[in-house]
Order: sequence, then structure tokens, then C-alpha cells
Amino acid sequence: MISIDLSGRTALVTGANSGLGRAIALNLAAAGARVCVNYLDDRAAAEAVVAQMQPTGGPALVIGADVSQPSQVDRMFAEVDQAFGGLDILVNNAGIDGRRELCADGDPAHWQQVMSVDLLGPYYCTRQALKRMVPRRRGVILQITSVHEFIPWAGYSAYTSAKAALSMFTKTVAQEVATQGVRVLAIAPGAVRTPINADVWGNPDSLRDLDQKIAMARPGEPDEIGRVAAFLASDLASYITGTTIAVDGGMLIYPDFSHGG
Ligand code: BGC
Repeated sequence: MISIDLSGRTALVTGANSGLGRAIALNLAAAGARVCVNYLDDRAAAEAVVAQMQPTGGPALVIGADVSQPSQVDRMFAEVDQAFGGLDILVNNAGIDGRRELCADGDPAHWQQVMSVDLLGPYYCTRQALKRMVPRRRGVILQITSVHEFIPWAGYSAYTSAKAALSMFTKTVAQEVATQGVRVLAIAPGAVRTPINADVWGNPDSLRDLDQKIAMARPGEPDEIGRVAAFLASDLASYITGTTIAVDGGMLIYPDFSHGG
């Protein structure tokens, strides 16, 4: 029987107090990892995630930090070092869609904020992780991009630009460390039922519209991302690096072309 075994591994998941991050953290713990649950401002939710990990996971840790602030990221990694003496798995999950804003009418400060969280945050965390993983010649860095690394999305130019850039960042860094025991790769989730898009799947009209954009005609569940993350972080995925795995129910296969054309 094949099973995902992350026992003895230390993982850090950013934005792990809710949504995809929460599901990823729980799945890593279910595979036996020690998980550091990063949150921005909801400590109680992060603690609830840790409480849910027992008894499968190793000892867990809750760390507050804003990934868009390099000094806070540095402190977060120091806390991980202190608690667990190193890091084996980093999941750069924390991210925001930002508000819908057409480019011509948009606010540059808002654009910059989305970039700071969705692109610079993963950059700050990745460089800290590499400093720890490369010397030990072991590690996995998993970026959570989006189908919008590929699909344009009117009103969200900051988000789509950040995700496309994160993809190229992932490939470039993967190339830098491929011979040094560190894998760097991405998951591109489609529309998954999380708080980030609750206004869409929570409304029957917009849910119908969303379903039409998905070949499997339904949004994903957070666990469907979490399970793939646990697999990709494990040695079962030892030959996968520098690429994006779409977990999107077929959003990227142009479901409109299932008829006509
Ligand atoms: C966004 C969601 C959106 C999904 C599909 C994700 O990257 O965060 O808000 O529903 O893409 O469009």
C-alpha cells in the first residue's frame, strides 16, 4: 500500500488559519508532519487548526506574521528554527484576490498591496526557506498560484499578474536549486469553496455562472487541494520540480468547447 509519509518533517504554511491554507496544514499534519500555522490577524482560528491536527500530526506551532513585511518574515523563520531546528516544507499559501478594479480606474496603492502579499510575500519566504534547505540538501517549496496564472480575469490585473509572476519565479528558483535536493513547484487551484470567493459560490446565480466555467461543473473542496499538497510535499513526488500542477476540476480545458465551436 502506498501512503503519504511526512513524519519527521517540519512544514510552514502561510495563511493557514482558514481556507486552502487550513486544509493544506491539516493534510500535512495527517501525513505526520510538524506544522507551523502562520496567520495574519486571527490567532484563535490558527489555534483551532492546530487543535484539529491532533493526534495525527507532530507538535504544531502558531506564528503570527504579515508575509508582505520582510522583517516579520525573518522573525517567523527564526521562530520556526527555535521550535524545530530547521524547515523541510514551505507552502506559500497566503494571498488575497484584492478588490475588483478595472486597470484604468484602479488605485496604484491597491495594486501594490496585492503584489506585496501575493508575489513579494512568497519571495521573502522562499529566500528564507532556501537558506535553510540548501545547506541540508533537502526541502520542498510549494507555491499556491491559481488558474489565473494562465487565465486572464478582468478587474483583477494585480492578482493575475502576481500569480503569473509567481509561476515564473517558481520555475527560475527551481532551476537554481534542482541539483541541491530542493524541489520548488506550484499548485494552481481553480475555484475552491473558501472564504475568498464565498460571495460567488454562496449566491445561486453566480454559482451557476461559475459552474459553467468548470468542466466538472462544481467548485472544488479545500481538501481536494490539501491532499495534493501533501503528496507534492512528500518523497512520492521526488521527480516533480519547476512546474505547476493544476487542481481545478478542468477549468483550464475550456469547458465552453464541450459543445459547438
Ligand atoms: C481566486 C478565486 C476564484 C478562482 C477562480 C482563484 O484564484 O482566488 O476567487 O474563484 O480563482 O476564478
